Amino acid sequence: MASSPSGFSPRGRFSCSLLTRSLFTRLWRWWHVLLLLILVLGFSTSNFVPRRFRFRVFKSSRPVGGPHPPAINLPNDLWTGRANEVRKAFAHAYRGYQAQAFPYDELRPVSGERVNNFHGWGVSMYDALDTMWLMGLEDMFYDTVEDVAGQTFSMSSGEHAHFFEVVIRYLGGLLSAYALSEDPRLLKLADLLGENLLPAFNTPSGFPLRGVNTRTGETNGEEATCLAEVLSNQMEFKYLAHLTGKSKYYAATEKPMAAFYGSENIMHGGLFATMWNVTTGKPNQTEFTAGGCADSAYEYFLKQWLMTGQKEPRMRDLYVRSANAIIENLLYVGPRRQLLYATDIVHGGPTHRMQHLTCFLPALLALGVHTPALQLSDAERKRHTWAAEGLANMCWAVYHDTASGLGPDKILVEPWSVPERGRWAARLEEWEQAGAPWVPPGVADLERETVPQARGYDAPVDQYLLRPEAVETFYIMWRTTGDVKWRERGWAVFQALETSTRTKYGYTTVRYLDDPKYKPFKSDDQPSWFLAETLKYLFLLFTEEDLVPLDKWVFNTEAHPLPVFQWTQREIEEYKIHVS
Ligand SMILES: *[C@@H]1O[C@H](CO)[C@@H](O)[C@H](O)[C@H]1NC(C)=O
Ligand SMILES: *[C@@H]1O[C@H](CO)[C@@H](O)[C@H](O)[C@H]1NC(C)=O
Repeated sequence: MASSPSGFSPRGRFSCSLLTRSLFTRLWRWWHVLLLLILVLGFSTSNFVPRRFRFRVFKSSRPVGGPHPPAINLPNDLWTGRANEVRKAFAHAYRGYQAQAFPYDELRPVSGERVNNFHGWGVSMYDALDTMWLMGLEDMFYDTVEDVAGQTFSMSSGEHAHFFEVVIRYLGGLLSAYALSEDPRLLKLADLLGENLLPAFNTPSGFPLRGVNTRTGETNGEEATCLAEVLSNQMEFKYLAHLTGKSKYYAATEKPMAAFYGSENIMHGGLFATMWNVTTGKPNQTEFTAGGCADSAYEYFLKQWLMTGQKEPRMRDLYVRSANAIIENLLYVGPRRQLLYATDIVHGGPTHRMQHLTCFLPALLALGVHTPALQLSDAERKRHTWAAEGLANMCWAVYHDTASGLGPDKILVEPWSVPERGRWAARLEEWEQAGAPWVPPGVADLERETVPQARGYDAPVDQYLLRPEAVETFYIMWRTTGDVKWRERGWAVFQALETSTRTKYGYTTVRYLDDPKYKPFKSDDQPSWFLAETLKYLFLLFTEEDLVPLDKWVFNTEAHPLPVFQWTQREIEEYKIHVS
C-alpha cells in the first residue's frame, strides 16, 4: 500500500521544465500525506459532515465581522455562575416555546397556548438565534437554523407584514446569527426577506410604508408614520447591502435619510417630530419624544455611524445635534428626590410622562461618550455622561422602589408647580453658576422608597412587559464605566424575574407590580424580545469575557449585534457614500 511510485515520470504530456518535473516527482512520493491533508481540510469545512464529527482546523481569531466561537467553557466563579443561571432561564423559555408553540410566533407561557402575532413565520426562533450562539448553545442554534431554513416569507393576498417589526426582529436576527456563525443559509434567508420587503420603500419620499405584502409586494399604510419606523432599518439594510453587494438595498434605506441631514425639518431646538407624512417626507405634527415611535431613530443615527466604521461625518453630526437637543429639551428633574427623567413635549409643553422604552437613552448616551472619535466637546461630554448616569439611576429606582422589584411600563412624575423650573438644562446652569457644589442635580444614586406617595411619581401603567431597556442600560453602563453596581442591579432584576414572571412553560409579562402582599398577576405573554434582548443583555452583563466588544459590534434596536465594517472603495463609488 505504501509502495512509493519512484519510477513515475510525467511522460511528456505536460510541457514543464525539468525542475518542476522533479518537484512534482518528489511531491508525488508524499501522496498519502497530501491525500490525508485534503481529507482533513475537506472534513473540517464540509457542510455535509455532521457538525459533531467536523474537525476544527482553523480557530478563528475573531476578526471584525467574522465568526464568533460560542462560549462553551465557563469557569466557575460568582458572576459566571450568575451568567449560567441566565442561560438556564433562556433554555427554559426557549424549550417551552419549542414544546408548546413551535412553529407559531410566540408562546403563551401560563396556558401553554401559542399565538401568531408576527405573520406566523416563527418570530421567537429568529429573535433567539444569536442569543443561543452567544450562550454557547450550539446544538440548539443549529437545530433552530434547520427549523427556519426552508422559510419562504410568504403570506396571503390582502395581508401586510409590519415593516418595522419584521426588519428589526426577523431581518436583524438573521443578519446577526449569520455574522456570528457564518452559516450561509442565514444570509440566503436574509437576502430573500430583504428582497420581499423592498417594495415598502416605493413612496415619493422614500419613507417606508407601514405594511407590505411579502409575496405580492402590495403595500398599505399611507397615513402618517412614526419617526422610528422611517429610521430603524438603516443598520440592517446597509449591512445586507455590504454582504450581498446589492446597491439597491443601500439606495432604498439611505433615501429617507436625506430628509434629516439638512436643517429644513429640524424643530424645537434640534428635535425631529414624532409623526411624518410618507408622501411628502415632512413632519405631520409637533410632538416630540425620545420614547416609543421616535426612540430607535435617534439610536440609529449613532449606530449607523459606528457600524459603518465612523466614516460619515454628517451621520455623526446628526447624532450629536439630536442628542444635545434631547438633553436640552426633554430632560426634566422632579422636585422630590431629584428624579431625572426624559419626557414628551405635547402642545409645546412637557407631559412629565416617562416610558420604560425611554430607558434605552442612557445606554445610547453612554455609548456615545465611550466613543472618542465622536469628538464631543468637554462641555458636551460632561452633560452626556451625567445624563446617562442620572437617567440610568432613575431606570433602576423605578424597579427598586416596587414590592416585586420590577419597573412599571409608564410613570408620571410629579412636576414643579412651575413646570419649566424642572428643565434639567436650566437647573444645570443654575448649579454651575453656584460654583458646581456637590454632584449635579439629578445625577446621584437614589435611595429605595417603598411608600408610593413619597416616591415623586405614579405608575399609571402598572405592568412589566419583560422589556429589556433597563438591563440594556445596566449592561452598557457596566461596560463603559466598570462600576460593579450595574451588575448587582442587573442581578436583582434577574432574581425578580425568577420570582414573579417564571411559569411552567416560560416567562410571562405581569401586572400589579407593587402589592406587598401578593405576587404580580401573570398575563400569559412571552414576547420574542425577551429571548432576543432581556436575557441576552443579562447574560452579557454577567459573563467575565467581553463576548461582544463594543468597538467591534453594534446592537440593533432588538439587541441583535451586527459587526463593524468598512465600506470598500467599490461600494463607496457605486453606492455614492458620503465618506470624509
Ligand atoms: C400628506 O401630504 C399630502 C400632500 O400635502 C396630503 O395630500 C396628504 O393628505 C398628507 N397625508 C397625511 C396623512 O396627512
Ligand atoms: C397628520 O396626519 C393625519 C392622519 O394621519 C391627518 O389627519 C392630519 O391632517 C395630518 N396633519 C398634518 C399637519 O399634516
